[in-house]
Amino acid sequence: MPLIELEIAINDIVLPDDVAAFIREADHRVSQFVRHRPFCASGFVPSDFVTVYQALHAIAAADLAAGTSLCEWGSGFGVVASLATMLEFRVCGIEIERELVEASQRLADDFGLPVEFVHGSFIPPGAEAEAEEAYADNNDDFFWLVTDADRAYDELGLEPDDFDIVFAYPWPSEEPLVEALFEKYAAEGALLLTFNKYNAVQLRRKVG
Ligand SMILES: C[S@@+](CC[C@H](N)C(=O)[O-])C[C@H]1O[C@@H](n2cnc3c(N)ncnc32)[C@H](O)[C@@H]1O
Repeated sequence: MPLIELEIAINDIVLPDDVAAFIREADHRVSQFVRHRPFCASGFVPSDFVTVYQALHAIAAADLAAGTSLCEWGSGFGVVASLATMLEFRVCGIEIERELVEASQRLADDFGLPVEFVHGSFIPPGAEAEAEEAYADNNDDFFWLVTDADRAYDELGLEPDDFDIVFAYPWPSEEPLVEALFEKYAAEGALLLTFNKYNAVQLRRKVG
């Protein structure tokens, strides 16, 4: 099923005070974290939280999603997932690095935000071969996606097609794999919001 591009206008969206305060604290904790663990030693690179919040706000304001369930694929520090709860989405995050899962949960809990983070892979069971193939075909020096599947969806009690919105920040050479997985496993009508190396967001819908 193809993905169609949706336009969203994000520039005029002003951050509420509680959102701005949360992002300030998140930025502070992320910079402390990367001081000890440089980006090159890990697959974690944060997206621009203001831009992604504005995109989520635009999706909510225009009622573009079929429902309120959102999953952050590769949730890193969990900031996007936490911000989504501030817009009344029901949110979970799947992250392969345990240390990041713990830091995400601490940040969300400190602000009383109801997000569930699980340690594991967002690669759906059955898609390992597809992921391995994309890895093998990739000539890029840097590849941050871990291609194993595991029991993350079992732990959540959810399937990839239970989400109305998926957010991901893939490395450019990994975008085709993330898109292919979304196209194959997400629900018809679901939205894929991605952040990219141009510091921009892209919104697509899976259509029948
Ligand atoms: C570019 S970072 C983005 C972090 C966060 N989403 C953000 O926007 O700030 C990608 C994250 O995906 C994680 N990751 C890579 N492969 C994964 C996999 N198969 N399943 C879950 N997380 C994965 C990395 O550890 C990293 O934290």
